[in-house]
Amino acid sequence: MILPPHLTVEGGHLLIGGQDTVDLAQRFGTPLYVMDEDRIRENFQRLESALTAHYPNVRILYAAKANGNLAVFRILASLGAGADVFSAGEVALAHAAGMRPESLLFNGSSKSPADLALALEKGVRVSVDSLDELRQLDAAAAEAGKTVEIAFRVNPAIDAPTHPKIATGLATSKFGIPAGQILEAYGAALAAEHVNPVGIHCHIGSQILAVEPFAREVEVLVRLASDLIDIGVVPSFIDIGGGLGIPYRRETDRAPTPEDYAGAVMPVFLKGISDLGIEPELWVEPGRWLVGDSAILLTRVNSVKTAHKTFANVDAGFNLLIRPAMYDAYHEVVAANKAGVPPVQEYSVAGPICETGDILARDRMLPELKAGDLIAVLDTGAYGFAMSSQYNSRPRCAEVLVAGGRAAVMRRAETIDDLTATTLTPPWQE
Ligand code: LLP
Repeated sequence: MILPPHLTVEGGHLLIGGQDTVDLAQRFGTPLYVMDEDRIRENFQRLESALTAHYPNVRILYAAKANGNLAVFRILASLGAGADVFSAGEVALAHAAGMRPESLLFNGSSKSPADLALALEKGVRVSVDSLDELRQLDAAAAEAGKTVEIAFRVNPAIDAPTHPKIATGLATSKFGIPAGQILEAYGAALAAEHVNPVGIHCHIGSQILAVEPFAREVEVLVRLASDLIDIGVVPSFIDIGGGLGIPYRRETDRAPTPEDYAGAVMPVFLKGISDLGIEPELWVEPGRWLVGDSAILLTRVNSVKTAHKTFANVDAGFNLLIRPAMYDAYHEVVAANKAGVPPVQEYSVAGPICETGDILARDRMLPELKAGDLIAVLDTGAYGFAMSSQYNSRPRCAEVLVAGGRAAVMRRAETIDDLTATTLTPPWQE
């Protein structure tokens, strides 16, 4: 199996950031998410260099939904990232990590009055998703005696090759304002007294393993910038969203590199802005590419059963990693305490949840497994813990961060008491 450089094998054990996963599981318990800080730094720097090699005026907004741990925000903040935030919680986390309000963009197709008020209070720019939202934001800004800088999210009607649940730029998607209505929206923003349209925003989807759709997206945005200039809006930023995919199937996925990505989008962007004579900032909103491959989920085998196939029943299920159940996503699995041992048997790695769909990995060739063995599920840094739940009343597991030979808990495991920590007893049950 091909492993990324931060995962190595020594003495038959899988190591992450040089730390033995068998020891980590022993020390912190399982299930356990383990994330490698240095890998996030490397990923960030690689993407940043690939883009800035073409154009210096680039801002990276971490798509905070991928992993909402405060320690992750801190790492990215220290590298100079801002954030694409989708909720009051993400605004608070970005703030706590020291990200400046002007490095955030408040996104989302369904913002509440409280969300809009928060953006105004904190001075966070808003990506407006409808004319209705524009009216509400303008009224709220008037009341607060403020002016708010905005972009509109454009729906470019681009069909990017990915799972239908995470394609967001389709004409039929719930996101953004159709390209055909977008000038009217900017016109309305110009007419409004308390909003100032300064940017353009778009995001066509996630886990996209081709670069052409991004180039087409940038073409649409540059054309739009030209129309905007005609009506008096000179964009100070063009935000092309996130979506760059990662090779979950390392043996066969042909994933574009950041250099491929930059090589496809930057020429279109640069030609467009030079024709228009403008120098807007280019914003990107990567989530998965920054953190996806940085973490593994360690899970212990509870039992092995041969029925119509052989199951390795483990202690993590779709309560902790929903991607396989939700998107039929593929994650590589490694027998972490038998790494390097030749595979002899096909296993389906099955979680403890009461649903047939609770399979983390199907029909994988692995060394012979028995109760107590340790499995590592790879590439779980994005949309792993972030989408976890307490389904089946299972407390969420801990998250550990490793860096430079150290390991520390960055989120403690929930306990059984945590399951009732927020529940109250209705008086008639006293
Ligand atoms: N910008 C916006 C406006 C987004 O909605 C998203 C992701 C991103 C950026 C970051 O996309 P990325 O670079 O991570 O592809 N739960 C799904 C992915 C959902 C993505 C949602 N939006 C999964 O596990 O595959």
